[in-house]
Amino acid sequence: MSLTREQAAGRIMVALDYPDAVAAERLIEGLKGIPCYMKVGMQLFYAAGPGFVASLKERGYYVFLDVKMHDIPNTVKGGASSVTRLGVDMFNVHAAGGAAMLEAALEGAQAAVSGGAAMPAVIAVTQLTSTNQSMLNEQIGIPGTVEDAVIRYAKLAKSSGLAGVVASPSEVAAIKAACGTSFQTVTPGIRPVGSAVHDQSRIMTPGDALRQGTDFMVIGRPITAAPDPRVALESIIEELISVE
Ligand code: C5P
Repeated sequence: MSLTREQAAGRIMVALDYPDAVAAERLIEGLKGIPCYMKVGMQLFYAAGPGFVASLKERGYYVFLDVKMHDIPNTVKGGASSVTRLGVDMFNVHAAGGAAMLEAALEGAQAAVSGGAAMPAVIAVTQLTSTNQSMLNEQIGIPGTVEDAVIRYAKLAKSSGLAGVVASPSEVAAIKAACGTSFQTVTPGIRPVGSAVHDQSRIMTPGDALRQGTDFMVIGRPITAAPDPRVALESIIEELISVE
């Protein structure tokens, strides 16, 4: 594999899971100069808003806006246009919204591109990693295994024209087999050796996730809750660089 330092950093999406811009800026300042991807989720976006995303873009960061849209197609189309105009590099929608909604997300993004914005990668959430087998079958009403549901959703995202999916690192190989190697995978649940597991259940080290073929790894607390986040991020970058 042999990634350069810059390539390795660019595959790491730092989850800015903070309640406001002030707290997020403290971390960003500590990581200054490292060309990692920044992931802005609903907690920070609902508090700090479009202006915060715009300021990340002004500083040259790639931004994944993790707002997991799920609504009627016309509403998702409008939302997709708005976030594309913000200049995000990636955003996501729930595959459970169905093909018409996924295609509407793409149309919305393309409409903003016609107005001069750059085309972001539109990716789908398959089955949330917090969903277990009994929730899937009994509460949500989907029969079969979680992995069956993930693969079906990944295929739906692919056939609808999306660029990839969010998934567990343990599902990457099956998704790539079903949807092709250029179909992107974005994987949370990453834990370097020795770091706390927190509430993640199926975890993988950064090196193993890269060996599985993951394109981007979302990493939050192993960096944000580390005594020195910069040292933690640099050590993950080193681990990725060392993967043969
Ligand atoms: O702190 P940690 O590394 O567990 O953060 C993981 C990030 O990935 C969080 O922002 C979480 O919302 C997100 N995520 C996840 N599992 C999913 C989808 C997103 O952990 N299935």
